[in-house]
Amino acid sequence: MVIFELLDIDLAGIRLRNPLMLASGVVGSNPSMYLRIWQSGIGGIVTKTYTVERRESYQTPIITAVRCGYLNAVGLENPGKDDISQTVEALKAQRVPTIVSITGKNLSEFLLLASIAYSAGADAVELNLSCPHVRNLGLEIGLNRELVIKIVREIKNDVGIRVFPKLGYHPYIVETAKLIELAGADAVVIMNTIRGMKIDIWLEKPVLSNKYGGLSGPAIHPIAVASVYEAYEYLDIPIIASGGVWSWEDIIEFMLAGARAVQIGSVLAEKKYNFIRETLRKIEDFLVRNGYRHIEEIIGRAHQ
Ligand SMILES: Cc1cc2nc3c(=O)[nH]c(=O)nc-3n(C[C@H](O)[C@H](O)[C@H](O)COP(=O)(O)O)c2cc1C
Repeated sequence: MVIFELLDIDLAGIRLRNPLMLASGVVGSNPSMYLRIWQSGIGGIVTKTYTVERRESYQTPIITAVRCGYLNAVGLENPGKDDISQTVEALKAQRVPTIVSITGKNLSEFLLLASIAYSAGADAVELNLSCPHVRNLGLEIGLNRELVIKIVREIKNDVGIRVFPKLGYHPYIVETAKLIELAGADAVVIMNTIRGMKIDIWLEKPVLSNKYGGLSGPAIHPIAVASVYEAYEYLDIPIIASGGVWSWEDIIEFMLAGARAVQIGSVLAEKKYNFIRETLRKIEDFLVRNGYRHIEEIIGRAHQ
């Protein structure tokens, strides 16, 4: 394993060997896949979003390529709460910084999942408040600000695990981020996919069985950069960026905008996993060439 000496980072008290994290969901929920990505050099793993009950995926097609990325409506397929402990334990046995993504229909479901993640030894929970294609979960919870604040506050007070809410795009995303910071969130993830649709002009109907899906990939990157940049001006907690990373330059761009860590997702469907190590090497080269001694020095530099 190559160690990149300039890249280790403290994320709300979690030591990451580098700022790259696996984004939730893009490789499913299998721990052996997480470990393969860890061995490829990633700094931390966010699991697939768990719900209390097991969920099957929607009928295919659940994912389709579009010009600048992908549209997916997997339907939050996951093995349910009983799988959390063994997955976390498998990752923690290899000392992997592990963030368990959770969502629920109400406060008590969030509390239950967070306490299971905490007991299993997870480093944090990421709250999926922004899945654009599942009714009564995700986005619909995320749009109810009072409920989001309550969920964050109660997980912090009652469970005591670090909380990273993941927000979807919204013109007032920064206001929500500030409110969750005040409620005690340890970091915020900006942002999830954006609702979109592709229509098959020959069949004359939407391609995805769910009709609507979440747009990911390069199409959403500038939107995510703007949201991270704006959030950095208002927040004191760390920002974790997600959205359309396709190259090492995209990661630098997110960090200059103010991100402390950066998640990679759809790119893993297109590139081999050695993309991770090559990307880290290129980031380190960039830092050295530009006279930086550590990656911390570039966080938020685009605000000068
Ligand atoms: C197939 C697929 C499944 C996903 N599943 C989840 C999920 O379970 N929970 C979640 O919070 N985000 C999920 N996402 C969103 C990603 O975590 C990420 O935020 C989004 O894809 C934007 O990043 P990207 O452009 O690098 O892919 C999923 C994305 C894809 C493409």
